[in-house]
Amino acid sequence: MKALNILITGGAGFIGSNLSKRLVNDGHTVTVVDSLLRGNKLDKETFSQVTFIKGDVRDADLIMKAAKNCDIIFHFAAVLGVDIVADNPVETMDVEVIGTRNVVEAANVNNVKKIMYASTSGIYGHSAIENALTEEVLVDPHTSYAMAKRYNEIYLASHHEEKGLNVVSLRFFNVYGPNQDNRMVVPRFFEQTSKNEPITVFGTGKQTRDFTYIDDTVEACIRLMHLEGCHIVNIANEAEWCILDLAEQIKEITHSSSEIHFIEAPKNRYDYEVERRVGSSDKLFGLTGYRPMTSLGEGLQLIYTTNHSK
Ligand SMILES: NC(=O)c1ccc[n+]([C@@H]2O[C@H](COP(=O)([O-])OP(=O)(O)OC[C@H]3O[C@@H](n4cnc5c(N)ncnc54)[C@H](O)[C@@H]3O)[C@@H](O)[C@H]2O)c1
Repeated sequence: MKALNILITGGAGFIGSNLSKRLVNDGHTVTVVDSLLRGNKLDKETFSQVTFIKGDVRDADLIMKAAKNCDIIFHFAAVLGVDIVADNPVETMDVEVIGTRNVVEAANVNNVKKIMYASTSGIYGHSAIENALTEEVLVDPHTSYAMAKRYNEIYLASHHEEKGLNVVSLRFFNVYGPNQDNRMVVPRFFEQTSKNEPITVFGTGKQTRDFTYIDDTVEACIRLMHLEGCHIVNIANEAEWCILDLAEQIKEITHSSSEIHFIEAPKNRYDYEVERRVGSSDKLFGLTGYRPMTSLGEGLQLIYTTNHSK
C-alpha cells in the first residue's frame, strides 16, 4: 500500500496516540498537532518517529502549515470528559467549531483528499430504542459537546457536497484500553480497585453502554481511511453492558476488595446519564468487512495485564 502523509490533530491523546503508532508502523509519515492539554500519551518510540507540533487547532495559520502536502487529516483534537465539558462548555464548542473550520480550510487550500473526523455516540442522546443504534436513527444531542460534534458532521458533509472533499465521521462508542486517563469510567474503576477504594457507580448502575476496545477502534479507522465519498459510521462493539456489571467484572479481574458504592449522579451529568446505549456495527462491516471483535472481558483483562507489566 502507498505510504501517505497524514496529519493527526489530538494525536497525543488516548485514541490519537494509538492511531499514530499504528500509522507509523504501517509506513506512513505522520504529523501530530496537539496542545498537550491532557499530557502526552505517545510512547517514546512513536514520538521519535512523528513530526510533533505543539499547538492549538484554533490557530488557523498553524493548521494551514501543518496540513501542507497531507493526503489525509484525522481530526481528533477535542475537549472531553463529562465534568470538564460541563465546566467548560464555551471552550468545548470553540475547539470543535473553530478547530474544524480551520481543518476544513487547510484541507481545501492544501488539496487534502480526506478528513476522518472523531464524532461521538453521545450524539444519539436519549434516543430510546429497542435495538442497537444505527446511523439512521434520529439523533438527539443534548450537551455542548454532542451539539458541536453533530454540527461538524453536517458541516463536513456540506463540504463533501460543495467541494468533493472525502469525509468519514466516526461515531465512537466508549473507547477504552490501556493508558487511558480517569476521565472515563473504565480507568476510573481500575484506579479505585487498585487502591481498594470504593467503586463509585452513579444511580442504580443499570444504565448500559457499549465499550469498544482501542485496538479495534484503530483497526476500524485504518480500514475506513481508504473509503471515497462521505460517510457517518458507528465504531461500536454491539455489546450492551450495564455499569454495575462493568464494576463487578473489574473487581473480579483485579482481585480487589473494593466495595461498590451507589451515589447520586451530580446534576451536571444529567444529560450524559442516558439509560441505554449500544451501537450497531453493521454499516462498518458493510463498508469494510470488519467489525470490532474484542469482548469487554478480554479488553479488561488486557488492561490488567498491561498495568501489571509496567
Ligand atoms: N474516548 C472515547 O470514548 C471517545 C468517544 C467518543 C468520541 N471521542 C472523540 O475521539 C477523539 C479522541 O478522544 P480521546 O479519547 O483520545 O481523548 P483525549 O482527550 O485523550 O485526546 C484529545 C486530544 O486533543 C488534545 N486537544 C484538546 N484541545 C486541543 C486544542 N485546542 N488544540 C490541539 N489539541 C487539543 C488534547 O491535548 C488530547 O491529547 C475526540 O475528538 C473525542 O471527542 C472519544
